[in-house]
Amino acid sequence: MTDLRTEFLGFEMDNPLIIGSASPTVDGAHMRKIVDAGWGSYVVKTLSLDKNVRPDVRPRLNGIGRYSNIINLQNCELITTHNLDWWEGQLRMLKGLDAPMMVSIMATPDLDDWAALGRWCEEHGASIIELNVSCPHGCPEEHMGMFIGQDPQLVHDVTKAVKDEVSIPVMTKLTPNVTDIVQMGKAAKKGGADALSTINTIAGINAVDIYKRLPAPMVLTHGTISGNSGASVRMIAYKWVADLAQNVKLPISGIGGIDSWQAAIGMMMLGASTVQVVTEAMFEGFGFVQEWKRRMLEFMHEEGYESVDELIGLALPSLSSYEDLEVEDHLYPEVNDDVCVQCQRCKIACGDTGGGAITTPYLNDIDDEKCLGCALCAVVCPVGAIDMVVRGESQRWTREQGPPVEKGV
Ligand SMILES: Cc1cc2nc3c(=O)[nH]c(=O)nc-3n(C[C@H](O)[C@H](O)[C@H](O)COP(=O)(O)O)c2cc1C
Ligand code: SF4
Ligand code: SF4
Repeated sequence: MTDLRTEFLGFEMDNPLIIGSASPTVDGAHMRKIVDAGWGSYVVKTLSLDKNVRPDVRPRLNGIGRYSNIINLQNCELITTHNLDWWEGQLRMLKGLDAPMMVSIMATPDLDDWAALGRWCEEHGASIIELNVSCPHGCPEEHMGMFIGQDPQLVHDVTKAVKDEVSIPVMTKLTPNVTDIVQMGKAAKKGGADALSTINTIAGINAVDIYKRLPAPMVLTHGTISGNSGASVRMIAYKWVADLAQNVKLPISGIGGIDSWQAAIGMMMLGASTVQVVTEAMFEGFGFVQEWKRRMLEFMHEEGYESVDELIGLALPSLSSYEDLEVEDHLYPEVNDDVCVQCQRCKIACGDTGGGAITTPYLNDIDDEKCLGCALCAVVCPVGAIDMVVRGESQRWTREQGPPVEKGV
């Protein structure tokens, strides 16, 4: 029987989909709603010692795109604005829920603070602790968040400080704002991490109001370099998850730009055991998880997978270096006339940037001699009417072999 149930760090979960630590997990009521909606689990908004809690600015979000087409969100939201006494009551509300309680924490490099926070989480019912060493705004200035996550020694030390203090699993949440995430993953592993999660948001500026001469996120009179999330960051999330999966042997909770059930499965095929979602849930609410689960089950049934665990890492053997890519000399576009709406976008793009090979797309009037096989036409087609197909006799070679003609084939 096809099943989405899984086990993560020793805890049974209804499914591998988790709402990550952020605005959707700001209090107990929200997290009850998340589990009731059908998510596998949640990560509590990052907690800290009372001395490190600060108020948030207003506003603190800026999106690129409009309404349902937003592909990028920039935020400069800090960690929780509440103290630990308040959180005690919130976490009590989560007891008895059929989902492991994952709690995110953050502190300065003072290892006693990390240990104290870890102890507090365990005493208050946490199943798993996530170490936020990755927030890119507001926190690094106070030697927290990404300040720690960009230094392998500190990543090691804070992971070890918490691991030495608690008996529950610890997952280190890494920042994408590094040149080599594997180094950070290995440091966390050496410190005793039971799992890794990534990515936190990407430091950047997603827009400038040119009339106000004001960079995002446009907090009244100023902007600030801060965290970007949503579909536009998925390629970096995929890259880092795959890199960690190939080079650090620890379970991974994959995060970043997951906006569909297909994107979630892609994340698992690149090595994630569970998948966290934030921005999509901020835009659409929690309810879509039922549809995602239904479609994931359908996909697994059709493709012959019984357990969601079978998906983990399936795409990794096909991830290779550039020299291993194959070249097919006879790969050309083919237009499906039943789908084509005759908009001419492929013809314009090919004419100005490709080989100028398309005369009448819907008649498949494509000059194979001029075609460069680049697939720009398929990329710009608004209705997905173009497939790249092998026409005539296949001529395939690897870059190492060189083209058949040069070998005298
Ligand atoms: C508004 C907002 C607040 C966030 N707050 C936190 C936080 O408190 N702790 C944390 O570890 N990550 C925080 N994040 C980062 C998310 O957990 C997640 O790593 C990131 O948004 C990428 O996932 P996504 O593309 O699905 O949003 C926040 C993200 C957003 C958008
Ligand atoms: S594959 Fe490139 S060159 Fe060939 S028809 Fe399409 S856009 Fe033009
Ligand atoms: S871009 Fe797509 S829809 Fe438009 S003419 Fe080309 S094949 Fe047809």
